[in-house]
Amino acid sequence: MSEKMITLTIDGQPVTVPEGTTILEAARQIEKDIPIICYHDATTSNGLCRLCVVDVNKGRLLQPACVAQCQEGAAIETHNERVERSRRTILEMLDSAVDLSQAPEIQAQFHDYQADPERFPGAKRRDHVELDDNPFYIRDYSQCVLCWRCVQVCAEDAQYTFALTLGERGFDTHVTTLFDLGMMDSPCVFCGQCVGICPTGALKPKVEWGLEQGFSADEIRQMTRRPRRKPEAES
Ligand code: SF4
Ligand code: FES
Repeated sequence: MSEKMITLTIDGQPVTVPEGTTILEAARQIEKDIPIICYHDATTSNGLCRLCVVDVNKGRLLQPACVAQCQEGAAIETHNERVERSRRTILEMLDSAVDLSQAPEIQAQFHDYQADPERFPGAKRRDHVELDDNPFYIRDYSQCVLCWRCVQVCAEDAQYTFALTLGERGFDTHVTTLFDLGMMDSPCVFCGQCVGICPTGALKPKVEWGLEQGFSADEIRQMTRRPRRKPEAES
């Protein structure tokens, strides 16, 4: 980051930060809370969900605080009427398409912004079959908000395994594996980082899932055992 310092105001409060600092980082420096979904401190920001939008100099477009950098003399508003309406609409659209029942942080935001769960009645939903194809975790992409955190943590942001990618386009975009292979046939090393970073119930440890489904400890032990490899035939 640059050594050059710049000064701006956030909700009227002056703050001085190194050039290149994002608005989200500057706001955190003065303990201003900006809501996030796709952003995570450990992954690259891509500005996908737009829940973090803020008003910069009353510009025509709101800016995503997790990727927009601070500018000298800028006047940023993090909670005016336009910003809050935008966040509310984003939450309502998300809720109309995705099962958020196991995403407590997003539900809390839904409450904070007084979002209306009936705003888009009859909207098409992202329905996916629950995938149970390995002994370690369950994937239910009906609960996926497409934040990309799992894809990134599996790639350059941490693991360099590249087991996850995105399939299809537009509304049908979803997380998948290369060639849509089952997890046991993919490069996945079952490090669990994707499960740990998922902000919803889309990725869930199999033990937790088994307990929720009412399986006994013995049954869970059986289902979470990795099958033994067959010994290679001697030549
Ligand atoms: S599975 Fe979870 S971490 Fe991955 S994109 Fe969906 S919501 Fe984000
Ligand atoms: S948190 Fe900034 S765009 Fe998602």
